[in-house]
Amino acid sequence: MDKLETNFMNEILEPKIKRYFHSLKKKLEEHDERYYRDAAPVISDFEYDCLKHEWRELLRQYPALQLESESIGDDRREGFATFPHLSPMLSLSNTYDRSEVDAFDQRICRVLREEEALSYIIEHKIDGVAVNLIYEEGHLIRALTRGNGREGDDVTKNVLTIQGLPSYLSDAPQRLELRGEVYIPLNVFGEINRQREKRGEEPFANPRNLAAGTLKTLDISIVQQRKLQLWIHSLGLCEKLFIGTMIDFYHVLKKWQLPHVEFFESAGSLEEIWNCIEIIDRRRHMLPFATDGVVLKINDRSLQQILGETQHSPRWAFAYKFAPERIETRLEKISLQVGRSGVVTPVAVLRPVWIAGTEVKRATLHNVSEIERKDIREGDTVVLEKAGEVIPAITEVVLSRRSPTSVPFVFPEKCPQCGTLLSRAVGEVAWRCLNDHCPAKVECRMLHFASRSAMHIEGLGDNLVHQLCQRGYVKDVADMYDLSQEQLMSCESIGTKTAEKVIRNLEQSKNCPLWRFLHGLGIPGVGEKTSKDLASSFPDVRALMAASPEALRAIPGIGEKTALDVHAYFQSSSVILMIDRLEASGIRYIHTSA
Ligand code: IVH
Repeated sequence: MDKLETNFMNEILEPKIKRYFHSLKKKLEEHDERYYRDAAPVISDFEYDCLKHEWRELLRQYPALQLESESIGDDRREGFATFPHLSPMLSLSNTYDRSEVDAFDQRICRVLREEEALSYIIEHKIDGVAVNLIYEEGHLIRALTRGNGREGDDVTKNVLTIQGLPSYLSDAPQRLELRGEVYIPLNVFGEINRQREKRGEEPFANPRNLAAGTLKTLDISIVQQRKLQLWIHSLGLCEKLFIGTMIDFYHVLKKWQLPHVEFFESAGSLEEIWNCIEIIDRRRHMLPFATDGVVLKINDRSLQQILGETQHSPRWAFAYKFAPERIETRLEKISLQVGRSGVVTPVAVLRPVWIAGTEVKRATLHNVSEIERKDIREGDTVVLEKAGEVIPAITEVVLSRRSPTSVPFVFPEKCPQCGTLLSRAVGEVAWRCLNDHCPAKVECRMLHFASRSAMHIEGLGDNLVHQLCQRGYVKDVADMYDLSQEQLMSCESIGTKTAEKVIRNLEQSKNCPLWRFLHGLGIPGVGEKTSKDLASSFPDVRALMAASPEALRAIPGIGEKTALDVHAYFQSSSVILMIDRLEASGIRYIHTSA
């Protein structure tokens, strides 16, 4: 189609197509907003990519729509200074379709017909957030998000929290742009979500969204806790430094001690490409970060230049994304778990299925709004999806297979464990049981006190603690130190040896670092780090109990809310009594940060 013909076609089809285009644009913008601003997407990556694909197809067919396509995927936000990139920050063409990878290779072979043998490098596509690092005379002067591709938001302060990122490079070109992916390691992501769920907060959807939200966080202490990391994978402007191939580029990065792409494979033919993709796919489950596909790049940079780029993406690189593994199973039951802080979390009990190498029997449903939004009911056939995310999630219900007798799930008004009326704080999604004597909460408190990250009392696991609580031997943590060998041995599958060991471990735990003791108490809002901050400012728990909210607030790392929470916790007469009993049983603090 020539240009005139295109314009003509665009005019004829305009009203209907334009309307559709705008509805698609609105949808994408809304999802971008949820994704970039709130770091809480409501659709999966796969669904988003499908919408985006449709959008690109429309643009390809009706180029006149280009003028209306400006703001899609623009991550710039208010509150950030915006700066131009030295060279445009492009995106990658991507596909879930194998035949498009073949077509990419064929296109390149056609264009470079006369050139020497082709060599691709194939590497992981990191599921993170793109950043552009600008170095001038070796000094890192700015880190920008992609923004609209021409200019991005200044996130330098946050990027500088990344450990191992050099802010000076020796023998670097006058001006240099390095592009990479900021990510949050999977274990850090898992831990952050566990903490959030305990506090009744909505968990983050996936590591990439958390990284995106963190890069746009203005509170530097939060950014530090999130332990951002980076992988450099490409080059923007590079003045007066000849780098012949991508492999050479990675060697240069290594010399500068920059975190960079380490696992890549080389391929010459289509057959080799697919072999390499298979190798990379197999390796991805062992990596400490999320990936969502592979990137194919022409190794030779002079060939890259010949191939050039379109307005959106280079013609020398291509991303093949792994479609999320999806599987259907039956949701047998929605059970309700009561956590240490009283938050009631609905959990889907599933007919066991295998997905992405693990057997899945349960999946969190997060909270009641999640159940309502997806209208998830007991007995439904549900779709489980596992992509870059660590935990498989229920993405939808197969309505066509819903039983006509099914009824919407009704979240109980009372605690499923103790029958107390549940309550919900303003602005929170979680329902909580506020009864401090609720058996589920008591059990969680015991387990937390004995856990590895608190008092580390071996032998006090789920089964034993459950039995001790059920038999009424322990009602608060101080009772654990009064346990007799007979009481322990009256529990199922506890013999003399185990009972003696538990008593010995309890005895040994009495000499403990103050921070472990404080963490073990489970004071609201006080995790491991805050416990260490508090412990380093007070000689013992008595001094901490006597501190005013103002004195607590003055401790580095302690915010206003935590100061008030800690103070309020120690005003409770039952807490004071429990600490009296703990100290009477012989708890002594040793001063160490380990
Ligand atoms: S090379 C266009 N290599 O994926 C610039 N990009 O969805 C060439 N990404 O914009 C980029 N892993 O932010 C490259 N190993 C990798 C990558 C990678 C993740 C990002 C990058 C890109 C986006 C496209």
